[in-house]
Amino acid sequence: MAMTHPSIAAVSLNAAVDQTAFVPGFALDRVNRADATRVDAGGKGVNVASFLAGFGHRVALAGLLGRDNAALFDRHFRTAGVDDRCIRIDGATRTNIKIVDRTGDTVTDLNFPGAPATADDLNAVAATVADLAEAGLDWVACCGSLPDGLGPDTYARLIALARDRGAKVALDTSGPALDQALQARPDIIKPNIDELGALLGRTLVDTDDVIRAARSIVSDGVRLVAVSMGADGAILVTARESVLAVPPSTPVVSTVGCGDAMVAGLIHADTLGLGLADSARLATGFSLGALGQIGPRLPAPDQIESYARAVTVTALETTTEGRIHR
Ligand SMILES: Nc1ncnc2c1ncn2[C@@H]1O[C@H](COP(=O)(O)OP(=O)(O)OP(=O)(O)O)[C@@H](O)[C@H]1O
Ligand SMILES: [Mg+2]
Repeated sequence: MAMTHPSIAAVSLNAAVDQTAFVPGFALDRVNRADATRVDAGGKGVNVASFLAGFGHRVALAGLLGRDNAALFDRHFRTAGVDDRCIRIDGATRTNIKIVDRTGDTVTDLNFPGAPATADDLNAVAATVADLAEAGLDWVACCGSLPDGLGPDTYARLIALARDRGAKVALDTSGPALDQALQARPDIIKPNIDELGALLGRTLVDTDDVIRAARSIVSDGVRLVAVSMGADGAILVTARESVLAVPPSTPVVSTVGCGDAMVAGLIHADTLGLGLADSARLATGFSLGALGQIGPRLPAPDQIESYARAVTVTALETTTEGRIHR
């Protein structure tokens, strides 16, 4: 049991069991044999919560878990030091299978649907978030897709009740859930470039496109828009400045959780009071940490800091000087 009140709550409405199977020479329409397999408790909210707990934050997780396979999550929360406030619903938490073929250098994903949620389930999660925020939270992180049964206004509602109680909100979702949530003005969003393009109904092809798109979201009242672009890094935009954070070329063990690590890194950076460039560097260090590990986990903080030092951060523009330089 947590002895002290959490300062951060993550929200996980659609957790997943991440099952990774290592299958050399994986091929369709054949019998394939796995060399090795591993199973991790996952889902974006679960990952963000455990990454932040790993950096010493007191973190609660609000959300939904299927009762039938909750033991894996129970163990994970105990190990990670996450204060589990999830309610258990009928059925099983969905499984996402990753088939990793190291010889063919491919990763094939197979994502299953989860147990549907009801309005009552969401009400229970909302009450938990409200209670936590009422007692004082710095941050609420709303992460991941929505299960069947919950409407696209779900995050907008949770964000509004967190903000009304003085918490800052980070959001990482996509599609209509992201679109509607923006009305509630989260403090930080972290779309990847495809998610941001889909939100605005256009394909973003270059840096200028991304900056323009991010600025349009900032002007709607989101303080920080962090657009991740896979190996190309990330562009972070606020009303005052924009930076590009490029990771060194890195051997990728697994991309599971790299976006979630960036979200956790942005929140951690805020708790340290870092400026935009240093936040971009540290958040990218978090992502690089996730890339070096199988499954959703991070190395120790000193390793993350050494990854962060290898990130190249460039100012893209400063409105005070009115120039663009890259
Ligand atoms: N192949 C790579 N090499 C180096 N860095 C990478 C690579 N892939 C991702 N990253 C780092 O991780 C960050 C987040 O990655 P990405 O843009 O793929 O997130 P995402 O699409 O949100 O991922 P997720 O599937 O976790 O939601 C990037 O900004 C970059 O810093
Ligand atoms: Mg993502």
